[in-house]
Amino acid sequence: MAIERTFVMIKPDAVERKLIGEIISRFERKNLKIVAMKLIKMTKEQAKELYIPHKDKPFYNDLVNFATRGPVVVMVLEGDSAVEVVRTLIGSTDGRKALPGTIRGDFALDIQENVIHASDSKESYEREHKIFFLESELLKY
Ligand code: TYD
Repeated sequence: MAIERTFVMIKPDAVERKLIGEIISRFERKNLKIVAMKLIKMTKEQAKELYIPHKDKPFYNDLVNFATRGPVVVMVLEGDSAVEVVRTLIGSTDGRKALPGTIRGDFALDIQENVIHASDSKESYEREHKIFFLESELLKY
């Protein structure tokens, strides 16, 4: 068993479409543990920081504007191999290509408005969750 944590963000399009409950329920049904969670309106600075690996890509500015256009739910999930398991549950980046049964496959039809973000590695988790959470906000239970 490799108990890991991963960072997840339910994006503004999904909050607008009232998909928060549907998405969280998939993680709970998978037996992942929510160790931190909040509904926030991200600042531009937080969005720029989250997406810093893409800062030179042509879609960077659009992505930052999209991520800050409305509230998002940020959370930390814990479980065996959580990083890989959650990436499998969310599906591939482009909603048009994501497989049915995955979150993006079932709810997204776009590459930018693709409903959800999840860390793609342990290193990404370490960087990303610190943008939104203090260590004291990660609950042990
Ligand atoms: P990326 O890290 O490649 O994908 P993932 O979210 O699956 O880890 O890209 C980050 C986000 O950038 C992606 O969720 C949506 C956006 N994006 C675009 O808007 N256009 C693109 O061509 C790509 C590759 C990503």
